[in-house]
Amino acid sequence: MVDPIPLVDLAAQHAQVAEEVQAGWAEVLARTAFVGGPQVAAFEAEYAAYVGAAHCVGVGNGTDAIELALRACGIGAGDECVLPANTFIATAEAVVRAGATPVLVDCDPHTYLVDPDAVAAAITPRTRAILPVHLYGQLAETERLAPLAARAGAVLVEDAAQAQGARRHGAGMGGVGRVAATSFYPGKNLGAYGDAGAVVTGDAELAGRVRLLGEHGSPRKYEHSTVGFNSRMDTLQAVVLSAKLRRLEGWNAARRVAARRYDALLSEVAGVIRPATLEGNEHVWHLYVVRVSERDLVLKRLHEAGIGAGVHYPVPVHLTAAFASLGYPEGAFPQAEEAAGQILSLPLFAEITAPQQERVVSVLAEALA
Ligand SMILES: Cc1ncc(COP(=O)(O)O)c(C=O)c1O
Repeated sequence: MVDPIPLVDLAAQHAQVAEEVQAGWAEVLARTAFVGGPQVAAFEAEYAAYVGAAHCVGVGNGTDAIELALRACGIGAGDECVLPANTFIATAEAVVRAGATPVLVDCDPHTYLVDPDAVAAAITPRTRAILPVHLYGQLAETERLAPLAARAGAVLVEDAAQAQGARRHGAGMGGVGRVAATSFYPGKNLGAYGDAGAVVTGDAELAGRVRLLGEHGSPRKYEHSTVGFNSRMDTLQAVVLSAKLRRLEGWNAARRVAARRYDALLSEVAGVIRPATLEGNEHVWHLYVVRVSERDLVLKRLHEAGIGAGVHYPVPVHLTAAFASLGYPEGAFPQAEEAAGQILSLPLFAEITAPQQERVVSVLAEALA
C-alpha cells in the first residue's frame, strides 16, 4: 500500500517549529501564566506588522473574531449584514450571534469570491456591514466593495480566515476594509495547536472595543463597563503562532510553487476546471479547488487511493438546516449551488512533493476517464 497523502500535513509543519515551540512552552509552563501575557502581546505586534495593520487583537477563535469585529462596530439587532452564500458557516453564525441578520448573495463562478454586483443589489437601508470572505487564499474585490459599503453607511468587515499572507494590489487583510477577522485553526496557513483567532484594524478605538468585549467588558480587573464575553488568545497558542509566523512567507511561497505544479499537471487532464486567480491578487493557496462533474464519485476514488481530498463546502449556507429559517429557496444562488456540487479540494501544503502531486493527478485522471 502506498503512503496516504493528507489534505494538510500538520506533522511536516510541526517538525520545523518543534524545538522553538517546546522551548517557548517550557517558559510558559514554568511561569504558569496561561492567558495573555508578553507572548500574546508579542504575537499581536508581529502579526499587525506582518499584515501592515496598526492593531491586532488576539481572540479565542475566528468565529469570535468576526462576531467581536461586528459588535465593536456597533452592529446588532435590526441590522443587515451582506455575505456570500458559499462560505464556511461561521461567517453567518457570527452575524447571528452579534444579533444581526445575514443577507446572502451569490459568488463569481470562476474565482468563487463574492460577486460585487450581487452585493450592490442586496443593499437596503438596513445594511450595516458587508462581509467579503477571502475564500481559499485570495482576497475578494475589496476595492469595489469598500465604496459600496461607504455609500450605504456600512462597514467592510473582512472574513480573512483563509488568507494569512494574501495580498491584493500589494495590501494585506484589513488593507481596504475597516477591520478584518482571521482564524488560526490548526489547518489554516498560519495555524495554532488548538483554537485561536485575531482581529486586525487600523482603528485604535475599534481595536480597544474588540479587546474590551473579549475581556468580559472589563478595562481593569473586576471593573466591567459593558456586557462582553470571554474570548482571549491562550499564551501557549501565541508561542506557536510566533514561531510559525517567522516561516509563513516561505511556506506560502512553497504553496504557490505547488499550485503552479498542479496547474501544469492538470492542463493535460480533460474534465477538470482549474482554479482562477483574480487579477491583482497574490494568492496564498489555503486550498487548491478544482471543479469536476461526478464530484462525489471522484472524491470516493481519491479516498480509496488514500488521497485526502475534501470539499469546501458541500452545502451553501442557505441550504443548511441551521439557516433554513432565513427563507432562501433552492435556486436562490445558482452559482454557489452549482459550485457546491462540483468543487473538490486537492491536497496542498508547503511540504507536498512533486511525486505526491503527480500521484494525486494520476488518480484524479483515472477517476475521470
Ligand atoms: C471562511 C471562514 N470563516 C470563519 C472561520 C471560523 O474560524 P474558527 O474555526 O477559528 O472559529 C473559518 C475557519 O474555520 C473559515 O474558513
